[in-house]
Amino acid sequence: MNETLTIALAKGRIFKDALPLLAHAGIVPVDDPETSRKLILDTNQPNIKLVVIRSSDVPTYVEYGAADVGVAGKDVLMEYGGDGLYEPLDLKIACCRLMLAGPVAFKNSEARMRIATKYVATTRRYFAAQGKQVEIIKLYGSMELAPLVGLSDCIVDVVDTGNTLKANGLAPLELIANISSRLIVNKASMKMKHEVVHALIARIAEAVAAPGILPPTALTRPCAAEMKEQKRTNIAKTPK
Ligand code: ATP
Ligand code: PRP
Repeated sequence: MNETLTIALAKGRIFKDALPLLAHAGIVPVDDPETSRKLILDTNQPNIKLVVIRSSDVPTYVEYGAADVGVAGKDVLMEYGGDGLYEPLDLKIACCRLMLAGPVAFKNSEARMRIATKYVATTRRYFAAQGKQVEIIKLYGSMELAPLVGLSDCIVDVVDTGNTLKANGLAPLELIANISSRLIVNKASMKMKHEVVHALIARIAEAVAAPGILPPTALTRPCAAEMKEQKRTNIAKTPK
């Protein structure tokens, strides 16, 4: 591997879950992003660098070629949109669900719902596909607060264990998409750095498939039972 390669990653859960996959591909960062203030991290391989950025910025860095490869949640990719990137691999890490959620008694049948979310484009597309007009309020975090203080009727956010919803008296209402993190690749890098990029994809694909490499926390926790219960309640309450 003589060509240089820049990999874009977000700090936190994606970085933590991606580390064992990168290690399997022979890439180990020299610095710890949680303690280092460096934004470009060296690795044990002189030609491979990691850039540590906000998760929602990863597709931008990769599409514009500031990074050759990146790891981003499917939620972030759906919101980013477009076809400016290759998405060759589901890494099966940071698994969660993008959901419509709201007060336990809420039913999705009101004329014009107000929805708080950071996933504005995805939410608009989801309701447009149902022929529903909704008012969307853009937030940057703590979405669960919005219905509690009357800012919105519902939220669209990612749900994993469902504990955050439950702790705030909210419940999952509708599944919008199953989410996991994806390896994304710049289109020019895929061609120009074919050898190094393909070798990386192959090694990481191997790691995803190998037993015992993904941490148990990376696996999807089913909240299907909770959803089923909620669906039953909603169906029972929806006027004919
Ligand atoms: P930003 O800092 O850009 O706002 P973020 O706060 O969403 O990003 P993280 O919380 O690290 O960043 O989430 C990164 C990705 O991990 C998300 O895009 C999503 O795909 C996934 N994710 C988010 N929350 C959870 C969760 N509770 N459990 C599992 N995966 C999650
Ligand atoms: C995410 C998401 C929810 C929570 C869901 O927040 O925005 O609040 O996880 O996870 P749960 O279903 O297991 O409770 P995160 O922990 O990333 O904090 P953040 O608000 O800083 O993004």
